Amino acid sequence: MPVVWREQLAVGDPQIDQDHRYLLCLFNCIELSLSSAETLGHLPLFFGQLLEYTCEHFQREEALQARVGYPALAEHRSAHARIVEMLVELDGGLQREFALLGGVENVAVIDGTRRAALDALRARLGPELLQLAREWVIEHVIRMDKPMEPWLRRAAC
Ligand SMILES: [Fe+2]
Ligand SMILES: [Fe+2]
Repeated sequence: MPVVWREQLAVGDPQIDQDHRYLLCLFNCIELSLSSAETLGHLPLFFGQLLEYTCEHFQREEALQARVGYPALAEHRSAHARIVEMLVELDGGLQREFALLGGVENVAVIDGTRRAALDALRARLGPELLQLAREWVIEHVIRMDKPMEPWLRRAAC
């Protein structure tokens, strides 16, 4: 089920909030691409984009935290580094799995045998990918980004 942006998720900086909206959108795309063998070919693109944009976003967010003197910056930076490490590892695994299936373009060609292979891949990778994407995009924003709000709002005044 798609996750919808809510105003309660806002941290008070327009660029950071826009990043979080986009990352939520990518999370939904990842979930959708895992929903069937026919859509699975889109997964590497969306997951790769999640990794790339997450890195950009973390740099932006950490620079902002440093600028406003956010006291939990060091802890926050470590949490970001852990997320990136896990995303990189999963992205590598995903690339290898798709290479074994003959590349993304061949995943679109579906017959009985390939459907079984794609469904097996969905079952194998889906839960871990979704759990990490959920932990990062949803739980991190709620538990670790949201507490920045008072510092960001104060700095904006
Ligand atoms: Fe963060
Ligand atoms: Fe964030």
